[in-house]
Amino acid sequence: MTKKTRLLVILLSVVMTFALSFTGCKVPDAPQDDSADTETETNAGIDYMALVNKESSLPDGWEEALQITTITNSVGDEVKTESKAYDAYCALKEEVEKDLEGYEGGEVKLELDSAYRSVAEQQKIWDDFMEKYGEEYTTTHVAVPGYSEHQTGLALDLYFTIDGNDVYENEDLVQYTDIWEVIHARLAEHGFILRYLPGKKDITGYAYEPWHIRYLDDPTVAKEIMDKNITFEEYLGKISSHAATVDYGTSELYTQEEMDAAITEFKKEFENWLGCELHSVKYAGDECNSEENIAWLNSLGEGKDYTQVIEFITDFHSPTEAELLEGTAWEADKEYTDYQWWLAREDGGAWELVSMGYE
Ligand code: DAL
Ligand code: ZN
Repeated sequence: MTKKTRLLVILLSVVMTFALSFTGCKVPDAPQDDSADTETETNAGIDYMALVNKESSLPDGWEEALQITTITNSVGDEVKTESKAYDAYCALKEEVEKDLEGYEGGEVKLELDSAYRSVAEQQKIWDDFMEKYGEEYTTTHVAVPGYSEHQTGLALDLYFTIDGNDVYENEDLVQYTDIWEVIHARLAEHGFILRYLPGKKDITGYAYEPWHIRYLDDPTVAKEIMDKNITFEEYLGKISSHAATVDYGTSELYTQEEMDAAITEFKKEFENWLGCELHSVKYAGDECNSEENIAWLNSLGEGKDYTQVIEFITDFHSPTEAELLEGTAWEADKEYTDYQWWLAREDGGAWELVSMGYE
């Protein structure tokens, strides 16, 4: 390479880096020079499978090893993301937008709200939420600084624009279940998982967040996690002591996987009971699937043709007087035992929660 060509290459790569920093994913065909190897070497300091949650803080030396790409999103905020995760996000964005072509509400563009956050930025979010929503909501929606997955640079909060209009606020984003379905279906092939699943709050520590995805740099692992509908904690076998214990008993009818699917389903309802804490779940036994119970649940499920029933018995704790919402049925600060959950399914169908309470 002549001196002149070398200079040109350096100049070009500076221009490309600049373009990438300021225009997001708009340069998908950027020529790949041999700096890709350097990037992998730099990123060798990062364990893409690191677990960061309420009990595991950011590993030491993480921020020093982190390589970051910075962009400006549609609302004018600067967003920093771990570089490999950012490239994967760009590929995801391209495919999702293609999948959503012809969406009835208009043209959908995927955007990045927040990815890497420093301790100070996480502290600010924490303080804002505490002031706006109070402690109960904040602890189940925002991580304590030092324990946020966002500090890894590998956690990305997504939002989107529809026909150029930002759909940005959480309460608006959750309405678009059809768009999230398309996005979630594409995550694993790009090495991402959905991190805070519905019905898994006692395991992850957080309520469902359709926008919060986590880069694992391994599409095979990501696919296994997404296909099984399990949390990262479950995949790693690192279940927190706050998670409810599960006694599967013995069954000739149902596998553990089938029971887990039913448990996740009723936990989606339980998670709406603000301040209640689930302590234990016990399978009631194969006799729950009696002819009598099948007929009973069919009488409750309008137009349903349930063929199988499953029952769980749970213990949970109600909120303290201060946390108890007005109009809730619970006595404050009490351990409720043997509370029953009844689910049923049609042939080949998924479990549906049909009844709960003390029968
Ligand atoms: N919203 C997620 C839990 C965080 O604050 O890291
Ligand atoms: Zn997030």
